[in-house]
Order: sequence, then structure tokens, then C-alpha cells
Amino acid sequence: MNDITSPSVSLSSRLKGETAAQHERMHRLMERGNPFSSREAYARFVAAQYLFQRDIEHLFADPAVRAAVPDLDSRGRQQASRDDLADLGAAVPEAPIASVGVSMPAALGWLYVSEGSTLGAAFLFKEAQARLGLSAEFGARNLAAYPEGRAQVWRRFVASLDSEQIPFADHDQVIAGANLAYDRFGELLQHHFQLN
Ligand code: HEM
Repeated sequence: MNDITSPSVSLSSRLKGETAAQHERMHRLMERGNPFSSREAYARFVAAQYLFQRDIEHLFADPAVRAAVPDLDSRGRQQASRDDLADLGAAVPEAPIASVGVSMPAALGWLYVSEGSTLGAAFLFKEAQARLGLSAEFGARNLAAYPEGRAQVWRRFVASLDSEQIPFADHDQVIAGANLAYDRFGELLQHHFQLN
């Protein structure tokens, strides 16, 4: 029998399982957008990434978010995306910040989507290098690993997710936040790739 205070499934496992369809959807949007077909197409992806990272870093100022994820300062790729847009000669897009009013525990779901995307970014980074001649110093900073390495920074994030500081009763709201963050990234990809 499950005790309500000690869930049998961790928050990180629930996030992965319950948002798997959203992740698949991102794959399909990326396939349709075909960002590695040209630097111009790739710049559209970076524009979406920049706006999403702006939404994410907006959450970093919230003391409750900082308490839940103590190493926030080593995370986030807003500036990297902005620098990539400059490298690519692309305009910095403007849009209202979509995460205004988002707070804990939903904010943690938004961070999950951004931090998890650094894992898949390993594949995208290779494509950006091989097909577009970009690098961690030019054009593909937003896809490069954090200096400490992807796996280590991800493991630390998972430890924050699964810490006892995030009460079981909050888990559903974290998952709802992750779904909204995926929705946002999906909208950005659709808009910037000009998909219907
Ligand atoms: C074509 C594009 C993408 C590919 C090929 C891809 C690939 C992957 C792969 C292989 C992993 C698992 C890595 C591992 O377990 O070591 C992963 C994890 C993840 N990706 Fe993606 N991804 C893509 C796009 C995205 C996008 C656009 C987002 C969200 C903005 C995203 C969010 C995530 C999340 C949240 C995880 C962590 C899943 C978990 O373990 O809980 N991915 N991705």
C-alpha cells in the first residue's frame, strides 16, 4: 500500500513518463522544421530557443525557485542563444515573457523541460557541427554542454527534483508546469519554423 507521504514513483520518473508524448511531439516539430538544412533554418530554431530560455531565466529570480534548485546560476542558455543569433547574423526576436506569474511548484516543471533538453542537445550539437560548421564558440553555444558536463549537471538537477523538499502533494503541479513549458516550446517552434 502506498503511503501518501512517500510516493512509490519519484518525481523525475513521473516527469519522464508522463511527458513522453510531449517529448515525441518536439521530435516531430524538429523534423518538420529541419533546422540543420541551412544556417538560416537553424537560426529559426535558435530564435525559439532564445525566447524559451528567456522564459526560463525569468524564473531564476524567484527565491522559492532558487531554494529548490540551488545551482541555478550555472544553468540557462539565454545569453548563449543571443550570442549565437549574433554569430548567425539573425535578429534577436521580441515577445512577451510567457512565464510571468509562474511560481513554485510549477516553475520546477518549466526548469525540467529546459534542463532535460540539454541531454537531447548533445545530438543536435553534433549535427550543428557536422552539417553547418558551427561550434561551442560560434553559432552553437546554446547546444554545447555546460562546462561541468551534461550528465553531471543533469544528475544534480534530478537530485533537486527528487529531494524531500519537494512534497509529494506538489508533484502534480510540477508535471502540469512541465506540460505548459512543452506547450510553450512547441508554439515557439511552430511559429519560428512557420509550421501550421
Ligand atoms: C530532435 C530533437 C531532440 C532530440 C533528438 C532529443 C533527444 C533526447 C534524448 C536522447 C534524451 C535522453 C538522454 C538521456 O537519457 O541520456 C532526451 C531527454 C530529454 N529531452 Fe530531448 N530531444 C530533442 C528535443 C527536445 C526538446 C525540443 C525538448 C524541450 C524543449 C526536449 C526535452 C527533453 C527532456 C525534458 C529530456 C529529459 C527526459 C528525462 O530523462 O526525464 N528534448 N532528449
